Amino acid sequence: MNNTLQDPNLEAQVEALLSHMSLEQKVGQMTQPERMACTPEDVKEFHIGSVLSGGGSCPGDNHPSDWVSMNDAYWMASMEADEDHLAIPLLYGVDAIHGNGNVLGATVFPHNIGLGAARDPDLIKRIAQATAREILATGVDWTFAPTLAVARNIHWGRSYESYSEDPTLVGSYAAPFVQGMQGDLGEDSVVACVKHWVGDGGTTHGIDQGETTVSLDELQATHIAPYRPAIDAGVLTVMASFNSWNGDKCHGHHQLLTEVLKGELGFEGFVISDWDGIDYLSKSYYEAVGMSVNAGIDMFMVSVDWRQFIRHLTTHVEKGTVPMSRIDDAVRRILRVKFAFGLFDKPRPLERRWSADKSFGGAEARAVAREAVRKSLVLLKNDNAALPLKREARILVAGKSAHNRGHQCGGFTIAWQGVEDNDSIQGGCSIWEGVQDFAPRATLSVDPLAADADPAKHDIALVVIGERPYAEGMGDVRPGDNVIVEAGSQIRGEMKVLEPYGRTLEHAVAHPEDLAILASIAAKGIPVVAVLISGRPLPVGPELAAADAFVAAWLPGSEGQGVSDVLFGDYDFQGCLSFAWPGDASSIKDPATMAFPYGFGLRMNGNP
Ligand code: BGC
Repeated sequence: MNNTLQDPNLEAQVEALLSHMSLEQKVGQMTQPERMACTPEDVKEFHIGSVLSGGGSCPGDNHPSDWVSMNDAYWMASMEADEDHLAIPLLYGVDAIHGNGNVLGATVFPHNIGLGAARDPDLIKRIAQATAREILATGVDWTFAPTLAVARNIHWGRSYESYSEDPTLVGSYAAPFVQGMQGDLGEDSVVACVKHWVGDGGTTHGIDQGETTVSLDELQATHIAPYRPAIDAGVLTVMASFNSWNGDKCHGHHQLLTEVLKGELGFEGFVISDWDGIDYLSKSYYEAVGMSVNAGIDMFMVSVDWRQFIRHLTTHVEKGTVPMSRIDDAVRRILRVKFAFGLFDKPRPLERRWSADKSFGGAEARAVAREAVRKSLVLLKNDNAALPLKREARILVAGKSAHNRGHQCGGFTIAWQGVEDNDSIQGGCSIWEGVQDFAPRATLSVDPLAADADPAKHDIALVVIGERPYAEGMGDVRPGDNVIVEAGSQIRGEMKVLEPYGRTLEHAVAHPEDLAILASIAAKGIPVVAVLISGRPLPVGPELAAADAFVAAWLPGSEGQGVSDVLFGDYDFQGCLSFAWPGDASSIKDPATMAFPYGFGLRMNGNP
C-alpha cells in the first residue's frame, strides 16, 4: 500500500493533464535518453520526460555548478509552453549509489556491503539524507538507489552493491533509505529508485545479467521480500533488472512487473527499464519495444537510440499492438510521481534552495561517512594484541591501496568503473593520510614489496591490500567461458557479456602482489596488520596466516580517517559480516569450508 500516491487531488491533477496530451507527448514522457545524446532542444521537440547521466557522464568541469547549469537548461526546455508543447517538468536521474559519487568533491560513503556489516538502520537513513543534500546541490531530483539485491554468489561483480546475502537485513535498510532520501517530498527530498527488480543477486554462478533459477516461493522469500518495506515507505520508482527468471527476462515479464509488483505489492509509482535493458528481449528492436511496454515498463532508459524507440512505440500504438490504455497507465504513473514529488511547483534548478550549496562535500556529511566507515570495519583476527595501534609507534604504512582514494571508493565513483588515483577524489583522505593525523612517526613505503621495511626502524606495519575498482559485469569472477555458454542456453533472449575481473576469487592467485608484500614484511619479524579493501569476502587463507591482525574494510569511500579511528582504539570494532566468508574458492557455499560464518566479527579484545 502506497499512501503517498493514493490521493484523490493528485489523481485529479494527473487526469486533467493527461486529457490534454497527444500520443507524441505521452511517448516523450516515457522516454529517458542519456545526456550525451540529448540536447535541451531535443527535450522540447520530443517532449522528453527524463534525462539521465550514466556512470561517469558529467557536464563541464564536473563541479556542482556545472550540473546545476545543465539541469537548468533541460528544465527550462521542458517548461516552455506553446501550442505544440505542454510544460511538464523534466526529472533528471543519476546513480548516487554511495553518495553523489560521480561529482567532483562529493562525500563518498562506503558501498552497501560495508553498511550491511554496520547493522545500523538509523545510519542508513542519515546517509540517505546527506546524499540527498549532495544530489540537490547539483540540481538533480532522482537517484537510482538503493540497490536491494540479495547477492547469493560472491562471484557477482555487483556483490558490493548488496547490503547482505540475508533478505531480512536488506529489508531492514529499505525503508530507512527511502525515508531518508524522499523525506516529506519537500525541498530537501530526492526521488529514490529501488533496483533491480528482481532476482539480480540470484543468478547462477553470480553472472551479471544472468539467469536466476528459483521457484516463485523462493523468489518471494529471498529477492522480493526487501521490496515490500520500500513500497510501504512510499518509494516512487522501481528499476527493472537485466537478469532472467527461469529463462524469461525481467524486462519483458508481465507476471513480475504487472501482476506481482503493481498488483500484489500495490506499487503505484513508475517502473524504469535499466540501461538499454529492453534491447536484450529480442533480436528485433521493434518487437522488444512492444514486449517491454506490454509487460509493464513505464519509462525507458534508452541511452542513445531513443529516437528509434519513440518511432517504434508510436507505430505499435497506431497498429494496436500496444493498447492506448497501457500508454495512459504508464504516463499516469510518471505524472503521478512528478506531482507527488512537487516537481511542478519547484523553481528552476538555478533558483533552488540547495543548488550549488556550500554544504556540498562539507564537514557534516563527511562526519556521517566517517562514522559509517568506523561501523563497517570487521575484525577477523587480532593475535599478539597487534591492535590497537599505538600513536607513538613507528608504523610502516604499505601496500598498493594504502594511499589510493580511488581504490578505497571502488566502482561508481567519478567513472563507471571507478578510478585508481588520489587526485580524482577531491576531499576526504586516503587511509595513509588518515594514519598521519594519528601517528606522527608513521612513514609510507611506496615500494611494491616494502623493501624499506626494517625491524630496527619500524615497530609494526599496516599493509593495505585488496581488489582494484570495478563495476557490474566487469567485476564478475568467472572460472571459464563455459558458464556464460550455459547461461546463454537457459535464457530466452540476448545476453550482454563483459570481460570479467578475474578467473578465481582466491586472492593469492588473483592478486599475488598482496601476499608477496605481506610475506616480505613478516619475514623480517615486523608484526603486520592487514587491511583488505574489497567488494566481497575473499578466500585469503595465506594472507590471514601472514598477518597478526586482519581487518575487512570493504570499500570505505572517501573518509580514510574512519579506519584510523578504530585501528588506534578511539572506537571499538562493531562490524559483523553480512556475508559468510569463504575459506576456499571452489566451494563458496559449503558451510564446512567457511573461514568465518555470517555474523562473525571480533571486538578489539579478541572476543566475538
Ligand atoms: C546499471 C544500473 C544503473 C544504470 C544507469 C546500468 O548499467 O545496471 O544500476 O542505474 O546503468 O547508470
